[in-house]
Amino acid sequence: MIPKKCALCGKTKYRHVPGVGNPKAKLMLIGEAPGPQEDKLGKPFVGPAGQFLNKQLAAVGIDRKDVWITNVVKHRCIGPPDDKIIGKSLPLLKKEIKSIKPNLIVLLGDTAVKAVVDKNYSVSKDHGKIIKSGKFSYFVVHHPSAARRFKRIRKIFLSDFNKLATLSRALG
Ligand code: URA
Repeated sequence: MIPKKCALCGKTKYRHVPGVGNPKAKLMLIGEAPGPQEDKLGKPFVGPAGQFLNKQLAAVGIDRKDVWITNVVKHRCIGPPDDKIIGKSLPLLKKEIKSIKPNLIVLLGDTAVKAVVDKNYSVSKDHGKIIKSGKFSYFVVHHPSAARRFKRIRKIFLSDFNKLATLSRALG
């Protein structure tokens, strides 16, 4: 795919990076926005954060091939995506959620939890918890980039991922 101007914000020349995985997944993971590697390859979570995520999924017995992985914003952003871009991205994400119909949605980081559930939630306060909102259930964890970089966050992330493994086994 040739990188072109973003259809949502008109600002960037970064490419659209759609969600990938098993369209019948019971587990869906939502991150923030693609980074440089994701922009290059056109797939979410293929850079350093993605490699870390793959390792942690495998460590708790979740096969990446069985889940659906996507982002709130579908193109690379320089810095955290702003409210305007998030607002324009949400209809597409909501369509994606309705089409996959996962039993559990894992929100990776603050941008995802605030965008998808509510601004009153945060990763620091709500990680490791299940939130029921509308028709779906959400499980909040720190963003893999933060867990990869900071030891303190990595410990929390690993413990939340163990909880996730138990929840995911219960999904069948
Ligand atoms: N960080 C994200 O939030 N998403 C990606 O796809 C890669 C890094």
